[in-house]
Amino acid sequence: MSAAQTPPLLSTVGLCKRYPGVVALDGMDFELRAGEVHVLFGENGAGKSTLISMLAGANQPSSGEIRLHGQALRLGSVHEARRHGISAVFQEFSLVPTLSVAQNLSLGDEPCRAGWLQTVEVRQRARRMLDGLGFDIDPDALVSELTRAQQQMVEIAKGLRGEVSVLILDEPTASLTDREAQRLFELVARLKASGVGIIYISHRMQEIEQIADRITVLRDGRKITTLQAAQTDADALIELMSGRAIEQIYPHIAHQPGEPVLEVQGLSSTNGVRAASLVVRRGEVVGLAGLVGCGKSELFRAIYGLDPISAGQVRFLGRLLTGARPRQWLREGLFYLPPDRKAEGLVLGFSSQANMALPLLSTVLRGRGGWLRRRLGRHLTAEAARQVELAPHNLDKPVGLLSGGNQQKVLFGKGMTREAALYVLDEPTVGVDVGTRTALYQLVQRLCEQGAAVVVISSDLPEVLHLSHRVYVMRHGEIAGELQGEAIGEKPVLNLFFGSSESRS
Ligand SMILES: Nc1ncnc2c1ncn2[C@@H]1O[C@H](COP(=O)(O)OP(=O)(O)OP(=O)(O)O)[C@@H](O)[C@H]1O
Ligand SMILES: [Mg+2]
Repeated sequence: MSAAQTPPLLSTVGLCKRYPGVVALDGMDFELRAGEVHVLFGENGAGKSTLISMLAGANQPSSGEIRLHGQALRLGSVHEARRHGISAVFQEFSLVPTLSVAQNLSLGDEPCRAGWLQTVEVRQRARRMLDGLGFDIDPDALVSELTRAQQQMVEIAKGLRGEVSVLILDEPTASLTDREAQRLFELVARLKASGVGIIYISHRMQEIEQIADRITVLRDGRKITTLQAAQTDADALIELMSGRAIEQIYPHIAHQPGEPVLEVQGLSSTNGVRAASLVVRRGEVVGLAGLVGCGKSELFRAIYGLDPISAGQVRFLGRLLTGARPRQWLREGLFYLPPDRKAEGLVLGFSSQANMALPLLSTVLRGRGGWLRRRLGRHLTAEAARQVELAPHNLDKPVGLLSGGNQQKVLFGKGMTREAALYVLDEPTVGVDVGTRTALYQLVQRLCEQGAAVVVISSDLPEVLHLSHRVYVMRHGEIAGELQGEAIGEKPVLNLFFGSSESRS
């Protein structure tokens, strides 16, 4: 019997998911074969997460069918899907922050003897799982103390617990650097060779090219087509996805450095930054690069007042503002885009519009006699939404119901409702589709060319390399080096990542 006649490992027939006022998924026919990596590709809100949430038992279809080895299947819960060997790592993390890594990895399946929890076994088991995957994470660390990337790795380890025949990964590399992503791809290759079918969601063209066997393109809840990866390319995919061609992802940004906006002197923090000094001027984009855990996020968390500073000075537009809190920074004109939209940036029960208006409430929107200037609020937020390419129909929805990428746009839009002297963007394009990514880069260009200073903190190396006029590379909590203009390139940056530059200079 030929491969075409054996039923696929997992398939859907006419699968639909309707919410009040939205058809999130519309008559989806999809199939996954054993031993293939099948990529789902589509704009923010296209329905990718909706599809996999039903395959993983987290969500119930409105109509249509899911089949495993050709047999119709009802997946009432994630637990039930796991029993059938279907396991998913979702966009939104499921770890319990107050428990340790090891405890999370045993959650729901704790080793007990005579009713006693075997804590040693819990730890050893976690060690084995993490080592097996090549993830360098301390099993005793609390999840709340991990970086987003480390949490992502624990989440993946958890997804691979037990027997897995279908593995679903929703933007697993969104906060990983290249090195960690490569680890993951090796893992995917191993699983594939052992016959596991893998559904993989990503907005990153490079990795799609690297690992996909087949690609299904979605738009507005519908399947556009399924293609052999070898027979297509990035341009064709982007056009299928968005219905438009994208000429150039990275704009050329004019470099006209002016007065210093931010001057940091010998800053150390309780979160691991050691004696960091840097300067950011008006009219320039400054990149901050480094491996996960190098301190690049931590540095600005400390500056912004989210973690305590233990030594050093921070000047903003010439004034000493060491230790200022987020509320003050907002007034002073620093906008900070946190990497983790759930934890720090958004009130999930509020509409997108209300979220974007929040920074304005105590200032611009406060009218005479304390009345709220609603019309102005609507106008400013609609304008911000336009700048970040958030579709108007998303404005009134609670943010918690938006797709992952659209949440990221709201967070970005929050910064666009008022002018700032410095924009600090930590992982600005995580989870954002390629079309929007281009729009956000053009926004960075406009901000910079209008005289603002922009800091881009990113694990996405091409992003840092292409956007920045100057790059600081961090390693082990310290600034390992600075590169400017022509000197900015993949090789010198990687040398600084790994500390191999000393031998050459
Ligand atoms: N619980 C819900 N209630 C109402 N609408 C929802 C709900 N969950 C998802 N949606 C809507 O369904 C659509 C598809 O969302 P989905 O999360 O599947 O997109 P996606 O393709 O995963 O996008 P992204 O790339 O941004 O993650 C979106 O318009 C979203 O707002
Ligand atoms: Mg999604």
